[in-house]
Amino acid sequence: MQSLYLSSLPAFEQPFLTLLISCFLLLILVLLQQWCHQTDKRRLPPGSMGWPYIGETLKLYTEHPNTFFFTRRKRYGDVFKSHILGCPCVMISRPEAAKSVLVNQAHLFKPTYPPSKEKMIGPQAIFFHQGDYHLKLKKLIQASFAPSVVKGSVSAIEEIVLNFLPTWENHALICTLQEMKKYAFEVAMMSAFGNNPEPEMEGIKHLYQILEKGYNSMPMDFPGTLFNKAMKARKQLNEALRRLIEKRRGNSKLHKDGGLLGFLMSAQEQKLNNLSDSQISDNIIGVIFAAHDTTATVLTWLLKYLLDNPLVLQAVTREQEGIQSKLVEENRGLTSDDTRQMYLTSRVIQETLRLASILSFTFREAVEDVEFEGYIIPKGWKVLPLFRTIHHSADFFPQPEKFDPSRFEVPPRPHTYMPFGSGLHSCPGSELAKLEMLIFLHHFTTTYRWKVIGDEDGIEYGPFPVPKGGLPIEVRRRNYKP
Ligand code: HEM
Repeated sequence: MQSLYLSSLPAFEQPFLTLLISCFLLLILVLLQQWCHQTDKRRLPPGSMGWPYIGETLKLYTEHPNTFFFTRRKRYGDVFKSHILGCPCVMISRPEAAKSVLVNQAHLFKPTYPPSKEKMIGPQAIFFHQGDYHLKLKKLIQASFAPSVVKGSVSAIEEIVLNFLPTWENHALICTLQEMKKYAFEVAMMSAFGNNPEPEMEGIKHLYQILEKGYNSMPMDFPGTLFNKAMKARKQLNEALRRLIEKRRGNSKLHKDGGLLGFLMSAQEQKLNNLSDSQISDNIIGVIFAAHDTTATVLTWLLKYLLDNPLVLQAVTREQEGIQSKLVEENRGLTSDDTRQMYLTSRVIQETLRLASILSFTFREAVEDVEFEGYIIPKGWKVLPLFRTIHHSADFFPQPEKFDPSRFEVPPRPHTYMPFGSGLHSCPGSELAKLEMLIFLHHFTTTYRWKVIGDEDGIEYGPFPVPKGGLPIEVRRRNYKP
């Protein structure tokens, strides 16, 4: 309509009128924004929204995470607003307030991810859902990774470690993060598909690795970009998984010990759920994704903290040597009972999860205007419970920057320690992740010593915080015989 009206005016008047209308519309927009802001301002949490559009994103990703969150918390309190990644948001650093978002009022705050991530992992994966579909999936995935099930994987994980560690020998330099990714990937594949060798696995691994390379790239879908290659690999993965599901269908032998896929398919065939094949596929990819970089990053920090704290390393080694002597005496491999005796090593893992806090925060989105702690969180705003800030608060963890596993001799206060999240979306893989770390540390500390190559200290982001350069180390065998 508007363009038709303009075309009936003399040519020289058109640009002038367009400019006039644009200015008028812009003025209305500015007034409208100011009005909205003023009505909300009285009850929005305090804080700074930074620069127009980019907000405080650059600061968040260039400053040390503690500096970014702590300066704002000091200035504005435990609940403050900001603007990151193009979205207005509210950041929360008080345990009870985080609990409200994640547990008590979880129905008002839905999980939220960039659309490109949803496309890559698969839109039907558990992370992206709320309500009945999420609950159904959560029950199934949780059952498949329950402690009673996971303990049956000890020997399979130990075999992966024993095949994997010797590949570190005779290398002048090991990039810990890259190597831990390989280890965590093998364990993730085993828990997703089971431990029976199948010819399809090499192809699936290859496609997943292409997908992974695109995961943190810019979502630009042009031929040649990492994102484009990843999306193509994702399509091929769908096809590969469809064929694997077809092959396994009706074969209860393959379902038994067939990992999460076996578990979901046998539930499907017994009509215990009505998941479609593509829902199953998206969740298999989702679980591999969730299990992989997270565990690898924590393992990397474990080696770093043990190096920085020789007395702790000594004590962990002693604990593991005690278990090793028993295994030699009884001529057997590790069992879940042995891993339950690794008290100190478990506390070292707990402290690493706290100090490294690799998931500094998580994202939720207000599904309506929510009254929260005397403020309004407008519908559509993101809400970020700040795990890292809570884990590094001296109120809950005295001398929070000190690596001190003994602090976990006493259980932490509720909701002050959430490395695996809390509430509806908490991590179903926590037991597997801990087991994977215990088994690795058993063999690594009893057989090897390591030192950092280079003098770089510090943190980089990839996207989780990791030691600089992925922790380059040199590894050598110890002269110790049990
Ligand atoms: C040390 C390693 C790990 C850490 C630190 C970790 C941390 C987390 C956290 C904090 C969440 C909650 C996110 C949120 O609330 O938005 C989560 C969710 C999840 N994790 Fe883990 N995770 C780890 C390993 C694993 C493993 C090994 C698996 C494999 C089973 C796994 C599977 C999942 C899944 C499927 C979810 C989504 C749950 C849902 O949306 O209901 N994670 N993880």
